[in-house]
Amino acid sequence: MDKDIDCGALRREDVGRRVTLAGWVNRRRDHGGLVFLDLRDRSGVVQVVVNPEQAPDAHAEADRARSEWVLQVVGDVGARPEGTENPRLPTGDVEVMAREVRVLNPSQTPPFYINDDSALDEYLALRHRYLYLRRPNVQGNLILRHRIVKFIRDFLDERGFIEIETPILIKSTPEGARDYLVPSRLYPGKFYALPQSPQQLKQLLMVSGFERYFQIARCFRDEDLRADRQPEFSQLDLEMSFVEREDVLELMEEMYTAMAAAVTPQKRVLQRPFPRLEYADVMDRYGTDSPDLRFGLELADLSDVAAGSQFQVFRQAVAQGGVVKGLAAPGCGSYSRRQVDELTEFARSRGASGLVSFALEGAGRPLDELTQEQVRSPVGRFFTVEEVQEIARRTGGAGGDLLLLCAGPREQVDLVLAALRHEMGRRLGLADPDVLAYAFVTDFPLLRWSGDEGRWDAVHHPFTSAHPDDVGLLDSEPGAVRSQAYDLVCNGMEMGGGSIRNHRREVQAQMFRILGYSDDEMAARFGHLLEALEYGAPPHGGIAMGIDRLAMRLGDLDSLRDVIAFPKTQSAIDVLFDAPSEVPQAQLDELRLRIAGEERT
Ligand code: AMO
Repeated sequence: MDKDIDCGALRREDVGRRVTLAGWVNRRRDHGGLVFLDLRDRSGVVQVVVNPEQAPDAHAEADRARSEWVLQVVGDVGARPEGTENPRLPTGDVEVMAREVRVLNPSQTPPFYINDDSALDEYLALRHRYLYLRRPNVQGNLILRHRIVKFIRDFLDERGFIEIETPILIKSTPEGARDYLVPSRLYPGKFYALPQSPQQLKQLLMVSGFERYFQIARCFRDEDLRADRQPEFSQLDLEMSFVEREDVLELMEEMYTAMAAAVTPQKRVLQRPFPRLEYADVMDRYGTDSPDLRFGLELADLSDVAAGSQFQVFRQAVAQGGVVKGLAAPGCGSYSRRQVDELTEFARSRGASGLVSFALEGAGRPLDELTQEQVRSPVGRFFTVEEVQEIARRTGGAGGDLLLLCAGPREQVDLVLAALRHEMGRRLGLADPDVLAYAFVTDFPLLRWSGDEGRWDAVHHPFTSAHPDDVGLLDSEPGAVRSQAYDLVCNGMEMGGGSIRNHRREVQAQMFRILGYSDDEMAARFGHLLEALEYGAPPHGGIAMGIDRLAMRLGDLDSLRDVIAFPKTQSAIDVLFDAPSEVPQAQLDELRLRIAGEERT
């Protein structure tokens, strides 16, 4: 070993020890002949002092060293002279008096500072990822991720789960995204698909009798990327036999609570049991199926009040089958015209045709004492004071608040108000970063009508079973059937999802038929699964949890890229390796592929 102790491990108790250190030059200062080096390794930083009189050779080496050079230092641990201790460093009481310094490798001047965590151009950080990953805070993110995964493995092992790997080269496993395809050399014209998830494989493992399976599985989805989506990501994929919904949810609840305590003890889980919220109810109250439950600001349906008012825009929206919904922003009744305009602009940018506001004066007074003069609104003359009072009552508003209303098709209104609720929560500082507001969303619809394709689509995936109370509606009223699917949400993000599956062949085949598959298509795409279900498939269900999202949430980070060592850009490019890239013609020939359209350059 080039070192016998880590830089960050040295403490006052080590004074007097001779140590050998190895690491990177975090900072180098020259103080009247003495060279001070902050030497950094993964564990932290320690100060090394090189005295030209006591160690002339070491001094010569230290003198030429620059930031990010790799050094080995042999020296004696001493207490720092009184008054020069650095309380911000765990090693701040000591320094190492160098006797020998060896340059293990010099370094070019890095394109950005490693020794601070200042914001960086994203491209630069990705292009020199190996340097960016040297930053201690970035290393911290990946270490957190490691702890999460280790926690999961230990937790599930203790409960009788077996980790089993499943193939990456496989056939399409639909999760609603486009597949990444891999051409086969041995069978020209044929392709493997990379799994969007190991969904069918874990179900087959249940047929095999493993009963409790999990895997930290890599998944691949060719879909539009966002801050919380990468083309390849990891799931904790899990499946259990002989279980009902609550068995899966309780296990996840126990795991996520214990995990937070183990890896992020500074965070507090808001509520246990995690609330079980029905999808329809969640959509009504929050406008999204992944609400941030750290604060209220719930949405209220105001369609009937709006339809009875004199305000044409609202009356028309309701007459056309739309809705009027709103929320109350506490204490924002004093918002200026400009601030309200900003919110209107925000709503427009999310697709709203407008935003109606009522700024209420009379803070601290009962609502029924509110007068017309205390209501400030560009459309105030179309509403009686009683109507405004009713709107305030339903949204939980009071004097001093700002009521914000939006009208239009339900989906659009929900989308806008969910975003606005989130924005107001942020502006008002209502979302405590140290709180984890977990909840399960249940009873999703099983199917959604795809107007574009003129057929039903699975809301979760085609292997999800229908709610037992709704099975009778499958043929007559598919849109009204609830599923046995569930999601785990936390602080406004979907963290995981799963379901109880169809374990009987005829039920699974019925589902495929509703989704528009002919018998031939069914056999070609899912024959293997349907056949397996004929051989004593046990009742089973499971869930998949996003590992990247979990690390992002627990690490208070804004992007999945912060918890992935080598992520892709928003446009699915690896800028470090320059992937995807063209391949030699010979490789294409071998695969019998020709690029259609434009000439290759
Ligand atoms: P689902 O598609 O809901 O379910 O995915 C489960 C969880 O995986 C994470 N996730 C992603 N994370 C990063 N980037 C992405 N592109 C991405 N897509 C999904 C989310 C999500 O909640 N087979 C089913 C699970 C099951 O039924 O058991 C499935 O994959 O955190």
